[in-house]
Amino acid sequence: MKAKLTVDKAYRIDRVSDHLYDAFVEHLGRDVYGGVYDPESPVADDMGFRKDLLQMVRDLKIPQVRYPGGNFCSGYQWEDGIGPRENRPRRLDLAFQSMETNEIGVNEFQEWARRAGTETMMTVNMGSRGVQDARNLFEYCNFPAGSYWSDLRISHGYKEPYGIKTWCLGNEMDGEWQICHWSADLYGQKATETAKLFKWMDPETEIIMCGTSSPGQSTLGSWERGVLEHAYEHVDLMDMHIYFKNYINDTQNYLGSALTFDEYIKNGIAALDYMKVIKKSKRTINLAFNEWNVWFILEDTDRRKAKEDFWKPAPSLLEDYFTFEDALVVGDMLISMLKRADRVKTACISQLVNVNAPFMTEVGGPGSWKQTIFYPYMHACLYGRGTAVQTPVECELYDSKEFCDVPYLSAVSVWDEEAGTVTVFAINRSVKEQMELTCDLRSYGDPCLLEHLVLHDEDPKAHNSLAEPERVKPVNSTLPGKMDKGCYTTSLLPMSWNVLRFSCK
Ligand code: AHR
Repeated sequence: MKAKLTVDKAYRIDRVSDHLYDAFVEHLGRDVYGGVYDPESPVADDMGFRKDLLQMVRDLKIPQVRYPGGNFCSGYQWEDGIGPRENRPRRLDLAFQSMETNEIGVNEFQEWARRAGTETMMTVNMGSRGVQDARNLFEYCNFPAGSYWSDLRISHGYKEPYGIKTWCLGNEMDGEWQICHWSADLYGQKATETAKLFKWMDPETEIIMCGTSSPGQSTLGSWERGVLEHAYEHVDLMDMHIYFKNYINDTQNYLGSALTFDEYIKNGIAALDYMKVIKKSKRTINLAFNEWNVWFILEDTDRRKAKEDFWKPAPSLLEDYFTFEDALVVGDMLISMLKRADRVKTACISQLVNVNAPFMTEVGGPGSWKQTIFYPYMHACLYGRGTAVQTPVECELYDSKEFCDVPYLSAVSVWDEEAGTVTVFAINRSVKEQMELTCDLRSYGDPCLLEHLVLHDEDPKAHNSLAEPERVKPVNSTLPGKMDKGCYTTSLLPMSWNVLRFSCK
């Protein structure tokens, strides 16, 4: 099969927001307790934080981490997690039927973020609590001194305010599963009033409201309209969530999942811009995907484990082994977001460690390992910063059980003008056929291939584990390639994620 890519810098989309590479940490399972904080592990630092995870976050330059949930935050009392540890209560976490020990709270997480070289994106409880508790947390974190909450922080040993810039108003408030799910109207009012108070305390605050929590939600569109009727002038971004799974165990079909994501992004933008018209507003609200990933491979095992571990601290929940085909879908989701870098300005891979995560730890032990999905995320973190450039694809299409007209080739490119590089992210979605690809890079003058990284496995279900941590990992392509007057021709293996990096000085 032959395919062609036009990699032309004239087709610039927008600067890629650094926050496309954010991540998510929740008080769920062994994400915080066992992942972030694991004092029994020999690789823990003086505060009990795992050094392997800290290093990974620094290496990938993950700019911001969403905290403390998720569904968890809709029942969370943040004051439980401050002050002397011995006085902190144990509380039932109804979202995940676990026991929250509150050993880690706002201050410890801030210290973790500082050590990891990242920032916190704070989510407030808009479920069981509301405006007053949220503004108290804001004051505790961000007000310098001289008020009740700021002085309380100082009395806890944290003199400097944290200056947390990005605040999320609740989580998945459109979902009936949420602790205290409200109507769009009521949530819209609560969100508006909270946003007002935050901006009065600091006009530079970036506010993210809850949009729809999955493409399958029947309220997609009407939820946004209801919330934005109140909140349009007060929020900066709208958070939507998306997860994929190979429901029907058909790899060729599963590899078309990004088409659903493309449509979901379009729908989110349409809902926002419709309300912009209605409100006759001059402001444009952008999209955040504060939870995106693949999910639920081990659904049944997890349920069983969850039952055994009811109301215990840090049960092992949602510890999926992601497969090679999952890595391709994750790569494709990154491509979808880069293609709309003009409107998708924040995205958190969900989650960072142990729970649905790219990075896994041997809790209490020294080991850690990277899941298959780690690699496309890593490549995007490392090489996906700069200007996103639309990269038109010419190739054959296929139909599958769920999708029609799926291009076998999925691609986007990112031009880092400062570094003088252009990177093409490309997936050959065909499960059977190798692809001969020509990239027309003539607009970049006299480009030269730096490297062609490839993630491929013959077995779509291959995965990594502590015992076999490198079963699936990227390697340098061994297939021949040739540059001819600015056009580079090479081959892409069937079912492969490819990163072609060119210097274009
Ligand atoms: O990531 C796990 C859960 O998935 C989050 O708590 C929730 O927001 C989503 O439904």
